[in-house]
Amino acid sequence: MIQASRIAADIEAIASQSEVAPAVGYSRPTFSLEWAAARDYVIAEAEKIGCAIRIDAAGNVHARPKQYSWQESLWLSGSHIDSVPTGGKYDGVVGIVAPLEVLRANPAAPLELIIFAEEEGTTFNLGMLGSRAWVGTLSAHQLAEVRNKHGQNYWQAGANYGASADRLADDIFNSAPYRGLIELHVEQGLAMWKQDQPVAVVNAINGRRQYFVTLTGIPNHAGSTQMADRNDALVGAAECCVVLEQLGLELNRELHHTVVTVGRLNVEPNGINVIPGRVRFVIDFRARTDAMLVQGDHRIKQLVSQIASRRGVPLELDASEALPAMPLNESICGLARAAAAKHGIALPTVASGALHDAAILAPHLPTAMIFIASRDGISHNPAEYSRIEDIAVATELLTEMVTA
Ligand code: HGY
Ligand code: MN
Ligand code: MN
Repeated sequence: MIQASRIAADIEAIASQSEVAPAVGYSRPTFSLEWAAARDYVIAEAEKIGCAIRIDAAGNVHARPKQYSWQESLWLSGSHIDSVPTGGKYDGVVGIVAPLEVLRANPAAPLELIIFAEEEGTTFNLGMLGSRAWVGTLSAHQLAEVRNKHGQNYWQAGANYGASADRLADDIFNSAPYRGLIELHVEQGLAMWKQDQPVAVVNAINGRRQYFVTLTGIPNHAGSTQMADRNDALVGAAECCVVLEQLGLELNRELHHTVVTVGRLNVEPNGINVIPGRVRFVIDFRARTDAMLVQGDHRIKQLVSQIASRRGVPLELDASEALPAMPLNESICGLARAAAAKHGIALPTVASGALHDAAILAPHLPTAMIFIASRDGISHNPAEYSRIEDIAVATELLTEMVTA
């Protein structure tokens, strides 16, 4: 029997592992001590119910009932426990505690739990590293190129947690042991909460493009440099932010759910009396269709380079990521709808504006997601909240789907 109280206890146990106090948010960078403690909590809980544990060369954790060999074809369900810097306690975590609870209530369920490493991308500046390394769309060399805030690459930071560049080639994803992936996740948007839909099935995930931009001006004296004599990198970046917001609004009118965000900006030398010489910022662009991703990509590059040249702050733009819009598997969505019907649960179909490891596995394995409503649509914020009873309903659905 699924127990909401155990789900709540798991969420609190994982939330207690954070680099910052709850009032500030929940912070668990991949391969940090807090991430490791949360990971080890899940491993211990899985071992308590008789699961065998395997950590793959990308650092993803796999747990399946000991009665099944690693070659037997089971369902796969999981998500991430790494977080954004001051995030909430449900993002990723619900997708871990739900399959864990399914296995507690059904120790012989044909289900493997997975914890994907580095989903968010805020630890190493690139997202879904664990899942992309596992399916082979990121190489060992590419993971050797990324850096965390301590200057470590993925393999150095993950060495104590099973990540191994040498083993990656032999540990590449093979679909034979899996029937499909079902990832549970909070919606992180407003629609379900507003329409009083506790759970939904997800049949598509937005594509995403990210750009690391550097504008290089001339650091100069704030007091003795006339306004006409400046190459101010920060004002150039500020104009880019406003123009990119206008572009987002324009493209959103053309295709709903198209969004453009600048979430990170660094100013150098960041002196109170120095005209900024260099500004680095990151553009995050999402859309439901590949056509819109291509159209927006062109406009973003055009707008930012026009501003840079007009202001005399030369541009460097690194298109760090280009992930396509991803349709999910209709037959697994149908399985979710049948499971819901059996339990008298209304199950609307939605698409995801946020990205998930499910988008990375989907080209390699039949994949779908189940969403749980987020209060007021808030996420990546300590105010993030979902009702335990809704998470329990989604867990019942998952149980029904994997034991059908
Ligand atoms: O950015 C995202 O969509 C997710 O939270 N990683
Ligand atoms: Mn997430
Ligand atoms: Mn997230």
